Amino acid sequence: MENRNTFVAPSLLASNFLELGKEVEMLNRSEADWLHLDVMDGRFVPNISFGLPVITHIRKATKKTCDVHLMIEEPEKYAEDFKKAGADILTVHYEACTHLHRNIQQIKGLGMKAGVALNPHTPVHLLENVINDIDLILIMSVNPGFGGQHFIPKTLEKIRQTREMINHYKAHALIEVDGGITVENATSILDAGANVLVAGSTVFASKDPEATISALRKA
Ligand code: DX5
Ligand code: ZN
Repeated sequence: MENRNTFVAPSLLASNFLELGKEVEMLNRSEADWLHLDVMDGRFVPNISFGLPVITHIRKATKKTCDVHLMIEEPEKYAEDFKKAGADILTVHYEACTHLHRNIQQIKGLGMKAGVALNPHTPVHLLENVINDIDLILIMSVNPGFGGQHFIPKTLEKIRQTREMINHYKAHALIEVDGGITVENATSILDAGANVLVAGSTVFASKDPEATISALRKA
């Protein structure tokens, strides 16, 4: 798996927030590569999750990569604050950015890796003009806003299209896939060309989250 440049990023949205410190300790011990942190504003998505103070505390508790997925409108207003809170990767939604190119430059200028997320209905080719500027493309395999939904099968084709586009433009962006990922469908997602598997409920609702993370890494 290491040869294929693939990573597992558990999403803390599905963790036990009352025991967040323990959950992060478990992830530190585990084979998780990144911590995926889902920020929702109740406007871009119909749900509200957690924000800057929580991420600041998580940052202090882990040395692993903090992969922040912003499901918020006007992300440019908060990019600097997320840098201060400790984000290593900051991903904004294509659908939330009128001036996407500017947003990407802002994130990189602040010293973070820049990601762009696509909702299930958004075609991959819309990223052609920024593909060489970004570090990560996040393909949503469910509609954003909630954990525990089913993987949308059409996503596999989108991952393949994204891989083709990256090859065509000789770009370096990683492909991250988010939503409905299980130990069972992980291999087909990686085979389609993904690099990063986000998993929330599959990890945290399992009896042995550490073992589930290892199983995802072995996919
Ligand atoms: C959904 C979030 C996901 C979510 C995935 O809007 O972006 O990261 O936590 O949860 P599962 O893995 O349960 O689908
Ligand atoms: Zn996410």
